[in-house]
Amino acid sequence: MSKTIFVSNRLPVTVQKKGDELIVSKSIGGLATGLKSFHEQANNLWIGWPGLSSDKASLDEQKEIKNQLTKNYNCHPVFLSQKDIDLYYEGFSNRTIWPLFHYFAEKTEHDIKTWQSYQKVNQFFYKNIKPYLEDDTVIWIHDYQLMLLPQLIRNEFPKVKIGFFLHIPFPSYELFRLLIWKTEILEGLLGADLIGFHTYDYVRHFMSSIRRILNLTHQFYRIQYNHRTISVDAFPMGIDYEFFANQKSSKAKKPKEKIILSVDRLDYTKGIVERLKAFQTFLKRYPKYRTKVKLHLIVAPSRANLETYDTLHRQIEKLVSEINGKYGTFDWMPIWYLYQSFDQEDLISYYKQADILLVTPLRDGMNLIAKEYIASSSDYKGMLIISETAGAASELSEAIIVNPNDAENIALGIKEALEMDQEDMISRNKIMHERLKRYNVEFWAKEFLSRLNAVEHQVISKD
Ligand code: G6P
Repeated sequence: MSKTIFVSNRLPVTVQKKGDELIVSKSIGGLATGLKSFHEQANNLWIGWPGLSSDKASLDEQKEIKNQLTKNYNCHPVFLSQKDIDLYYEGFSNRTIWPLFHYFAEKTEHDIKTWQSYQKVNQFFYKNIKPYLEDDTVIWIHDYQLMLLPQLIRNEFPKVKIGFFLHIPFPSYELFRLLIWKTEILEGLLGADLIGFHTYDYVRHFMSSIRRILNLTHQFYRIQYNHRTISVDAFPMGIDYEFFANQKSSKAKKPKEKIILSVDRLDYTKGIVERLKAFQTFLKRYPKYRTKVKLHLIVAPSRANLETYDTLHRQIEKLVSEINGKYGTFDWMPIWYLYQSFDQEDLISYYKQADILLVTPLRDGMNLIAKEYIASSSDYKGMLIISETAGAASELSEAIIVNPNDAENIALGIKEALEMDQEDMISRNKIMHERLKRYNVEFWAKEFLSRLNAVEHQVISKD
C-alpha cells in the first residue's frame, strides 16, 4: 500500500526540555484528532516542528528526539533554529499571512527578510520530506505556514499526489492583492493536485485570485496549470462527535447564575475585546440580568512573543477589571477571567455547565469550539451565539447568528438566548447534533484523502 505523509508546521506532539529531561505532550488542536486513525496506519508518517528551538537542543538531544518521535509517534521532527522561529514562524507566517488572511490589513507587515526565511524554511521542510518520497506517495500538507511546499515537491516529484488544506480563511482578492509575494504564494499552492478550504466563500476568493493574478481560467473548480489539472473544493472540518457527545456529565455543581462561556486562544482575530464590550452593553441595556448571569472568559495563552498579542492581553485584562469594577457587587462578579490552557476533559465540563457559548470572532477559518460545545450538550440544552464571520456559522444556522462588531446585536442575542423557549432550543440543537454527527472529523479526513487518492495525473494536451 502506498504511504501517506502528513505535513504541518506543528507536529501533533510537542517536545519541551525541562532541565536535561525531554517531555513529550500532545499539541492542542483538532487536526491531530482528525487524522489520528489515518496517521496510525502502518507506514504513514507526520512531518513537522516539535515546538522546540534547535538552539536549545544539542545534536545528541535532537537525535534522541528524532528516535523517540519516529519510534513511538510515527513523527519526523523538523528542527527550526531560533532565527527561523523569529523570521519564518513569528515573522512571515504570523505577522504577514495571518493578519492579511484574517482581513487585518493594517497589521500586515511586508518585510523581505521574513519572506526570505519563509522560502528557506519551506525548502528545509522539503529536504526533510524528500528521503521518504516515492512515486506513489500521497502527501497532505496543512496550513498557511507551508504554502510554497506543494510546488517544491512537484518540481522534483511530478508523480506524487499532493493535497493542501488551508485552515484559515482565504481572503477576498482585494485583500490578497496587497501581498507583495502573492504570485509566488499562488504558484506554490498550485503544485498540489487538490486544494481544500473550509467554506465555499474561501474557494470562490481563491478562484478569483487565481483568475485575476495568474490569468488562469477554471471550470467547475478545476484549474489547468502547467499541463496538470488542479481541483479546488470546500471540505468543512468536523469534530470527533462521539468523543464529545459521550462524555459523562460533570460532577461539578451547577452555579446558581446563568453561565455565558467564552473560550479562545489569545488572538486579535477572535474579537475578545469587542465581545467584552458587548457584554457590558448587555449589562447596561438589561439591568434585570445583573447578578443573574456570569461571563466565564477563558483565554488560552498563544504566540506570546508577538507584540500585538501582548498588547491585546493587557487590553483584555484592563477591560475585565473595568467591567467588574463598575458592575460587580460584594457577592457577584460579572466576569470570571481565566488566562490558561485547559485540557479537553476540563473544557467539556465547562461546556456542560454553560447556558450560552458566545463565539464572536472578527474572522475565523472555522472555529471548532462552537461545534464541540453543541456536541457536548447531551440534553440539547444551551445555546450557541456565533458571529457570521466564523466559518462554522455557515453550518450552524440554527444558532443565534450575530455581527461581531455590533455590540447591540450581540447584547440582544444574549437576551434572546437566555429567554429562548426550551422546546425551540432543543429542536434547534437536535438538528445541529445530527449534522455534526454525520459530518464528523473522520468524514472530513476520509473525504479529502479519497479525493486525493483518486487523482490521476493526466497530461492535458496543449491545444
Ligand atoms: C490556528 C492555525 C494552526 C495553528 C494554531 C495554533 O488554528 O490554523 O495552523 O497551529 O492556530 O497556533 P500556533 O501558532 O501555536 O501553531
